[in-house]
Amino acid sequence: MNDYGLTVQGLTKKIGSKTIVNDVSFDVKKGEIFGLLGPNGAGKTTIIRMIVGLINRTAGKVIVNGHDLDVHFTEALNEIGAIVENPEFYGYMTGYKNLIHYKRMSQKDITDEKLQDTIKLVKLDHAVNQKVKTYSLGMRQRLGVAQAILHTPSLLILDEPTNGLDPSGIREFRDHLRMLANNGISVLVSSHLLSEMQLMCDRFAIIDKGKLIHIESMQETTNMENDLLREVTFTTNNSESASLALASKTKTGLTLEILNDTQFKATIDYQSISEINKLLVQSDIHVYEISSVKKTLEDRFMELTNSEREVSLR
Ligand SMILES: Nc1ncnc2c1ncn2[C@@H]1O[C@H](COP(=O)(O)OP(=O)(O)O)[C@@H](O)[C@H]1O
Ligand SMILES: [Mg+2]
Repeated sequence: MNDYGLTVQGLTKKIGSKTIVNDVSFDVKKGEIFGLLGPNGAGKTTIIRMIVGLINRTAGKVIVNGHDLDVHFTEALNEIGAIVENPEFYGYMTGYKNLIHYKRMSQKDITDEKLQDTIKLVKLDHAVNQKVKTYSLGMRQRLGVAQAILHTPSLLILDEPTNGLDPSGIREFRDHLRMLANNGISVLVSSHLLSEMQLMCDRFAIIDKGKLIHIESMQETTNMENDLLREVTFTTNNSESASLALASKTKTGLTLEILNDTQFKATIDYQSISEINKLLVQSDIHVYEISSVKKTLEDRFMELTNSEREVSLR
């Protein structure tokens, strides 16, 4: 079996003279949660609508669990469970009745056992006999997920799934997605919130003006954080002597900015903080405080999406 729930290559959408999605490529491994992160209007929904076959592609390939959408359309679609627009339910019917209704309309044979398992999986067993109009947003969202995974898809796609959920709902939802991924499903999820993608995804692509400008893996992020430069302020008994001591002991390139009698600032990486501290102590300078302002991924995201120039991939 192949390792990918989804492969997207050169996905492009033009409407009139406008290129809404421009040559986007990425893949989602089995058991992976992959994010599409971008500001409103970036093209996330358009990418998703092309993957699920709701709109035509101008160019590009979509392969779902080994099935090319151009060659095996039905097979490919059978592998996808998706919530693209808000899931619609009959509020006057119970959650269970809604799922039964959906099951009847489904192309695939879904056993009662599968239905029960899915209800348990999304933790709606206690509420499944309540009318949907009494459900919280989070419960509706879970019912939507149940509906989307009822036919055992290998790829689950959710467009801005946490819109409207409160923080505890979002947290619960996140845990929920992780559990599904641990069961081997590939999850593709979109959001305009960086913090959310950081917490939810194993990797995410930054989409801006229809282009994929960067793919970030959370593992890399953690490593990279240590390479990021930060503004570090040292508070000592004497800025002037501290600066002289460092000037004699460090390689060229370290620039200090003296703020006042006791404080100076340097823009350095993580490792250099302790090295400078050591040098100061060795020079009999008293260090009272070290405070650092880190350049966050947020800053980088802003840089990436705000810059007019082309941003190259790492
Ligand atoms: N059918 C359409 N006709 C013209 N423009 C569209 C159409 N659908 C989307 N767009 C435009 O494409 C861009 C991307 O939209 P969308 O994919 O919804 O972005 P996102 O989901 O990231 O907010 C937007 O500028 C939107 O106005
Ligand atoms: Mg959208």
